[in-house]
Amino acid sequence: AKITYIQHDGAEQVIDVKPGLTVMEGAVKNNVPGIDADCGGACACATCHVYVDEAWLDKTGDKSAMEESMLDFAENVEPNSRLSCQIKVSDALDGLVVRLPESQH
Ligand code: FES
Repeated sequence: AKITYIQHDGAEQVIDVKPGLTVMEGAVKNNVPGIDADCGGACACATCHVYVDEAWLDKTGDKSAMEESMLDFAENVEPNSRLSCQIKVSDALDGLVVRLPESQH
């Protein structure tokens, strides 16, 4: 599935991410900057914060309670904030657009 990662400065990268990987893994494996993912995807660090494009909010689904509470540790959280390690890529997410925060800390 093609995922578009947009940096805070507007730079865009479109990456073909294999279904089954997470949006975080798609970025880290392809050297997309801006996602630290200190905990490696365990929903325990909040350094994989992204903003999901409004048009994709339905398809990316709901946050788990654990993700919700972990997001409290991220900065500048918005209603469309997600932890990208908690979004599994599937064919249904082909075309997904996520924006990266200015920093993860
Ligand atoms: Fe740590 Fe997502 S990688 S919460």
